[in-house]
Amino acid sequence: MAYENFARKYRPKTFKEVVGQEPVVKTLSNAIKLDRLSHAYIFAGSRGLGKTTIARIITKCLNCEKGITDQPCGKCENCLEIEKGSFPDMYEIDAASNRGIDDIRALRDNVSYAPIKGRYKVYIIDEAHMLTREAFNALLKTLEEPPPNNLFILATTELHKIPDTIRSRCQTFIFRPPTKSQIKEYLKRILETEKIPYEEEALELIAEASNGGVRDAASLLDQAVIYGGGQVKKKETEQMLGVVPEGILKDFLSHLKEKNLKEMVKTIERLDREGYDLTVFWEQVLERLHDSLVNLTVGEGEHEPFEKEDTELLIYATDIFKKAFIEAKDFNDRKDIFQLAVLKLRFMKDLVPLKEILKKGIPVKTESGEKTTQKEEKFDLQKAILKIGKEAGGIISGTLKKSSIREEENRFVIIVDKNLADILKDKLDIIEKHFPKPVQIEEIEIKQERKKPKKKDEAVEKVLELFQGKIISYEEE
Ligand SMILES: Nc1ncnc2c1ncn2[C@@H]1O[C@H](COP(=O)(O)OP(=O)(O)OP(=O)(O)O)[C@@H](O)[C@H]1O
Ligand SMILES: [Mg+2]
Ligand SMILES: [Zn+2]
Repeated sequence: MAYENFARKYRPKTFKEVVGQEPVVKTLSNAIKLDRLSHAYIFAGSRGLGKTTIARIITKCLNCEKGITDQPCGKCENCLEIEKGSFPDMYEIDAASNRGIDDIRALRDNVSYAPIKGRYKVYIIDEAHMLTREAFNALLKTLEEPPPNNLFILATTELHKIPDTIRSRCQTFIFRPPTKSQIKEYLKRILETEKIPYEEEALELIAEASNGGVRDAASLLDQAVIYGGGQVKKKETEQMLGVVPEGILKDFLSHLKEKNLKEMVKTIERLDREGYDLTVFWEQVLERLHDSLVNLTVGEGEHEPFEKEDTELLIYATDIFKKAFIEAKDFNDRKDIFQLAVLKLRFMKDLVPLKEILKKGIPVKTESGEKTTQKEEKFDLQKAILKIGKEAGGIISGTLKKSSIREEENRFVIIVDKNLADILKDKLDIIEKHFPKPVQIEEIEIKQERKKPKKKDEAVEKVLELFQGKIISYEEE
């Protein structure tokens, strides 16, 4: 017998076997039982969550020889044909390759005929968002006055591309990814039926890597069984997925906690050298940071090695690392981007607001070891800015006041919002004249006070209070 992959072999034949999608399954099976099925549905959601699968189950429910039921027999000729995809009253239309008005007109003509073999004709329009405007208009007419005994199911991964006119005539179901533990259970069920030995942790890794896609989880399991030579073990699965071993990941997080940036940079270097996919590693790191943050907040679950006092660090690092992740998608040199992201963490503690410096003044350190007759004196930054302003203009002194400043051994670094950097760079010679050491301009993205959320979010307030935290950024909706 030809080898059948797990996704195919274990495609649910009944509502009961569907993983997740509880609201969809419940509503549909009730509708069938109560004879209240709508004539048109939209199934929206990402790939491999069961849209086509559920559409076929409904077709069986309506056409099983046993009668209309939410538990089709799966054995009669109709059920079997539907499963095979050869049932004459089930039309699976790929809108990606039949997107034109003629295709929909043909469908419209068909709608007026009685079913050939079953009770209902079911049209499953896959990738429905690909239809042309004219095709949608033609479809609209059919949806407006549907002849009886026809059911339309529009499946799409991009709901926002379905016109409102169509949407308002359909009942929409959003398919959501099942939880990690649901996917784990699903994988376990397959392996136990197949009598394939496995380690729990390996399933955890696969569930994690599948990002909620059931089809993806099943095909990763296929691969893992082959890679592991007939069993699914943690170590082999790690290798197969390109996942960084737990020990290295844990060390990396401990270095983060200790703000040992050097070791973090070195780890990235090493993983790159050893051929690991750094994107996968970065995803693992982000996942851990996120989980730690959530678990610390709700007060349960794994958050090693972080403690409550690390909350600010976690928020800050997650924010920076996430941006790096997005950035790295468009570049080849991921290593550089991730290392830079790590280095950016130093700003967290080193950044001293200029206001404070203005209050205290920056002492000019004497070079160590070098004897100097010059008396240690204070560099008066405020005065310097005043002079710079007189010479270069108010915009320059204003910008300096908005910047932060760091003194290093043989230079000053002015850290400025990247939108303002050019203003300073243009007048660098004037600025430098008034500083006791060379000046370097460093650009960063300074978060402006963003639009605050309209209402206070109670949960957020509670978290802030609990950790005595502050909000660093808001995600735009
Ligand atoms: N919710 C689920 N429960 C169990 N198995 C599932 C589920 N979703 C998907 N699968 C598995 O993945 C395979 C593909 O599922 P299906 O074709 O229904 O996905 P889809 O949502 O239509 O995806 P696409 O958008 O790519 O068409 C099925 O054969 C099945 O084995
Ligand atoms: Mg599909
Ligand atoms: Zn049947």
